Amino acid sequence: MAEQSLDALVVTALPNILYLTNFSGSSGIVVVTANRLLFITDFRYVSAMSETRGTGHECPGLELVTVESTYDLTLADLLAGMPSARIGFEAANLSVARHRWLQTALGTRTTVPELVPTEGVVERARVRKDAYELMVLREAARRLSGVASAMVADVRPGRTERDVAMAIDWRIRDAGFERSAFETIVAAGPNAALPHARPGERKLAEGDLVVLDFGGVYDSYCVDLTRTVAVGHASARAREVYGAVLKAHDLAIEAVKPGISRFQIDGAARASLAGAGMAEAFGHGTGHGLGIEVHEEPRISRRRPGVDAEGPEGPEGAVHDDLVAPGMVFTIEPGAYFPGWSGVRIEDDVLVTDTGVELLTHVTTDLLEI
Ligand code: GLY
Ligand code: MN
Ligand code: MN
Repeated sequence: MAEQSLDALVVTALPNILYLTNFSGSSGIVVVTANRLLFITDFRYVSAMSETRGTGHECPGLELVTVESTYDLTLADLLAGMPSARIGFEAANLSVARHRWLQTALGTRTTVPELVPTEGVVERARVRKDAYELMVLREAARRLSGVASAMVADVRPGRTERDVAMAIDWRIRDAGFERSAFETIVAAGPNAALPHARPGERKLAEGDLVVLDFGGVYDSYCVDLTRTVAVGHASARAREVYGAVLKAHDLAIEAVKPGISRFQIDGAARASLAGAGMAEAFGHGTGHGLGIEVHEEPRISRRRPGVDAEGPEGPEGAVHDDLVAPGMVFTIEPGAYFPGWSGVRIEDDVLVTDTGVELLTHVTTDLLEI
């Protein structure tokens, strides 16, 4: 905020609000200044916020502001009462309509503050996890690894993808997660060629490869894991593709260390699959950050020409955020997909340490024939 000469920042993105306050409800606005953290919410949540006191989840110094009529009117009144000249807002998270309304509402006040669009202010703070977050993520990954080892028992010929997905979702809840982090993917046979297949009525059959991709939210933090298993005997082709994806997965994890760029980690997986003649089959990024959101920074992906900065240092003057640093947590999940045939994906969660990498999820990567 100081860098951008902001006197206040209005935070409307719920994951950012959760990060700043520990509030996990669905309505609220945060206003941050150099020395105040104000939280606007309505009567449904005021008592919930008060009850967090003493649970270890309280937010010291948080000033609660209760909505009287509407959120935006309360915000406008609050901002008008502050000596704020430049007020940042989250450009990615405030609709044009709301922005217009706010501008008009503030325009009628005696001192009209300037509304300044910002991007990623809180997100940049979220990308490197602190000790508390790492404790939560390690525990979440440990629990999800348990789910991954146990769910193999759910994979049986004759069961539908939907049945297996429901069984996995039950295990996720049973392992202490608040909920699944996204709609569990169980994709069998040719469906495994679709990276984001939805589980359907296909019955698992002898010879199928099955991609099982699931995640959980634990104490507000997301973890994410994929294994691909064979129903019955895996064909030579299945073994070849599995071996190539596993090699890419292992090489990408080995590449992780502080100071390497996210593009280089992606490149390690991509070059390995290209070497196996499977460049075209790997159409998505190698991974994504994990935290309050299941997909967050850093994106472990190809450099996008014209969008991402060039070179590991970035152009003169650019804020370069492409190098990974200790405390970052992300997935490594290469895959190879062949429409009409099938696909393989293997996904684990890693932490960048001071010296290298720590694997957070621990589940066998051998090709299981069930
Ligand atoms: N299925 C979501 C992911 O693995 O990123
Ligand atoms: Mn996943
Ligand atoms: Mn993932």
